[in-house]
Amino acid sequence: MTTYARAEAYAPATAANLGVGFDIMGLALCEPGDVVRVELASTEQNGGSGVRVMGITGDAGRLTYDADKNTAAISANEVLKTLGVPHRVNLWLDKGLPLGSGLGSSAASAVAGALAVNALFGEPLTLDELLSAAMEGEAAVSGYHADNVGPCLFGGITLIGGLSADQIYRLPVPKRLVLALVTPNVEVLTALARSVLPKTVTMRQMIAQTAAVARLVDALHRGDIATMAAAMESDGIIEPARAHLMPMLAEVRAAAKTAGALGVVISGAGPTLCAVCDDEAIAQEAAEAMQAVYDAAGIGATACATRVAADGVGARVLKVE
Ligand code: HSE
Repeated sequence: MTTYARAEAYAPATAANLGVGFDIMGLALCEPGDVVRVELASTEQNGGSGVRVMGITGDAGRLTYDADKNTAAISANEVLKTLGVPHRVNLWLDKGLPLGSGLGSSAASAVAGALAVNALFGEPLTLDELLSAAMEGEAAVSGYHADNVGPCLFGGITLIGGLSADQIYRLPVPKRLVLALVTPNVEVLTALARSVLPKTVTMRQMIAQTAAVARLVDALHRGDIATMAAAMESDGIIEPARAHLMPMLAEVRAAAKTAGALGVVISGAGPTLCAVCDDEAIAQEAAEAMQAVYDAAGIGATACATRVAADGVGARVLKVE
């Protein structure tokens, strides 16, 4: 097997759910993202096999160096196990994504970890094997759902039909689609945001939700951003249960819409809110308007306008040598 001395991989932020598609839809953003760097360690440096976390930046000291608990290290170790190689690998993680923000931070670390180690050995793993390695890392933090890992790995907008690569369907990205994102400085743990969800739904809710997902998929195929936004917003199950965890949701939505946004949904488990727009200047104005709501309330926040990464342009190897 080919082995390199070091490799580096990038994995982008993702917005899961698209409002109505809880756990089954997600999209990749062009940026920001996480970077994982790995090096083959000499046996003198470290005995035994497996991944050792050597450094983490951008996390304000909050992430664990324990390789059994760190998402990047768990997925990196899964790749080593799948390859059956006895090597020791040193790993550095540079967090470009805020933690617990609804932008797929743990998934990005997991995907970058898997990709970097795979690159170290000449990229022998199939997409399916990479997906399952990354899923192991993600699961350590937020359970088995691929609506962040899927788009992170593949780019674009994805429909998650199952947990294997051939069950992840790539949906068209409307050309004029631009998103405005705002992230208030409030952490919402995915576990908490999942614990507040109802355990059962009524037949009426099920019908409305599946109809909205179908409407969304159809709108994406037609490149109809207004209908896409309306379908995303018509979630009658998840947002009502989580809204109390998202500060100023109603006010932010109203401000974004006044600026011309077509719809606003919670990104993943929140608290990032995502406004759907069909014009760059409007998205910029919506981002500023959403930020202004938090400013006025004395809640720190960051906002930006960004595009969805094209299909096939998700996580990638940056360097191998
Ligand atoms: N679909 C997940 C949720 C994404 O909303 O809980 C967060 O990991």
